[in-house]
Amino acid sequence: MPSRRTKIVATLGPASSSPQMLEQLILAGMNVARLNFSHGSAEDHMARAHLVRELAAKHGRHVALLGDLQGPKIRIARFASQRIELARGDTFRFSVSHPRDAGTQEVVGIDYPDLVKDCKVGDELLLDDGRVIMQVEQVTATELHCTVLVGGPLSNHKGINRKGGGLTAPALTDKDKADIQLAAAMELDYLAVSFPRDAADIDYARQLLKEAGGDAWLIAKIERAEAVADDEALDGLIRASDGVMVARGDLAVEIGDAELVGIQKKIIAHARTLNKLVITATQMMESMIHSPMPTRAEVSDVANAVLDYTDAVMLSAESAAGEYPVEAVQAMDRICVGAEKHPTSKKSGHRMGETFSRCDESIALAAMYTANHFPGIKAVIALTESGYTPLIMSRIRSSVPIFAYSPHRGTQARTALLRGVEPVPFDAAALPPSKVSQAAVDELLKRGAVEPGDWVILTKGDSYTTVGGTNTLKLLQVGGQLV
Ligand code: G6P
Repeated sequence: MPSRRTKIVATLGPASSSPQMLEQLILAGMNVARLNFSHGSAEDHMARAHLVRELAAKHGRHVALLGDLQGPKIRIARFASQRIELARGDTFRFSVSHPRDAGTQEVVGIDYPDLVKDCKVGDELLLDDGRVIMQVEQVTATELHCTVLVGGPLSNHKGINRKGGGLTAPALTDKDKADIQLAAAMELDYLAVSFPRDAADIDYARQLLKEAGGDAWLIAKIERAEAVADDEALDGLIRASDGVMVARGDLAVEIGDAELVGIQKKIIAHARTLNKLVITATQMMESMIHSPMPTRAEVSDVANAVLDYTDAVMLSAESAAGEYPVEAVQAMDRICVGAEKHPTSKKSGHRMGETFSRCDESIALAAMYTANHFPGIKAVIALTESGYTPLIMSRIRSSVPIFAYSPHRGTQARTALLRGVEPVPFDAAALPPSKVSQAAVDELLKRGAVEPGDWVILTKGDSYTTVGGTNTLKLLQVGGQLV
């Protein structure tokens, strides 16, 4: 029985495309494979997705597939010399009319015509995730004239952010719209929307996905300063999504690194309170791109996210392009397990003083309350169509494992991302109703998850096929005659 509750998202890329490597990643504990649509062709992604599903099935594992849209990352064009070196005090211009492949030491083109409208004198622009910083001195109809505050190398296509956020590019580009079609065709389990400004951006993505025939759960990447400007903006984005990602790369650039830890805690807490899942991402194991061992700071960073009660921690370049993808998953695995031993990961005061509005939610929370207060209980079984019931359960801190029993491949994969939830293929509707409890418990016995004498909670509805229909909580003692 897996002892780790926090899940691991690993980004696939050139370093993790061979069947051997994917198999090792799955066996090391990858719960979600992320396909980054910023890089690679549709064929690359389809081939990786196919292999992941095939290899996961071979080993009886459930691995969700998460597509990540590129989004409107604003980038500079190219330099004639590919790369320049800027020093503090240099003057430099961004031009919407300069030839795209002919940047010089003084000027570079940019593909975002509204940059000159969005920026004003005094703004700070951050290039290449903040490695180079410039201040806007003058704005013309086609150019921004800047002074370099922090110098360094600048090369082709580096990203550009404004400190404090507020660049107005709409969230979905033409490429993103094409990739939404691809995500639907690939039957991806999750789709992450990059740089959403507000709920309307998520609603639009949802509409396009639905029109394309997809049913992925949507993840809003929280990476613009305006998304965290106040609770209303943040909660609006969270409510419109099925989950969120603390996308710390661009977010830290826009809000400043000093604000990041507090904002991470707030995003995770708000997402969980609003019944949504949450992934913590970016540079968690950065040094493992070139080293088989994480730094102490990285160990602490992963553990901190676990203690914040994130559903999942994520690897980016570490698994996509690094030298030690398997070691990075193994390191995350052991750090999560270690951090989960802390008592705050087991006790819940969540929603103790609140009222509930739905029957299934009340049953799900009652199940977790009972699981946390009756030491004989060793497992919770949620019969589920969509994954909603185990999602609600896993918003509660607990050390009791939650088993999501579903006949649907998509639900099995999706619930693999939820903290403390283990998917189990199970078709209750195919059994006579009087045999369901026994079969459900036998499945746990078979897996070694429970022993005779243990107690198990099972939740279900009156019908065995109704989303949102959960209205029953049963306590079953293993070894007894169950009906
Ligand atoms: C399964 C059970 C039903 C229950 C449903 C809840 O189908 O057999 O009795 O109503 O799951 O599904 P949900 O998607 O709301 O978690």
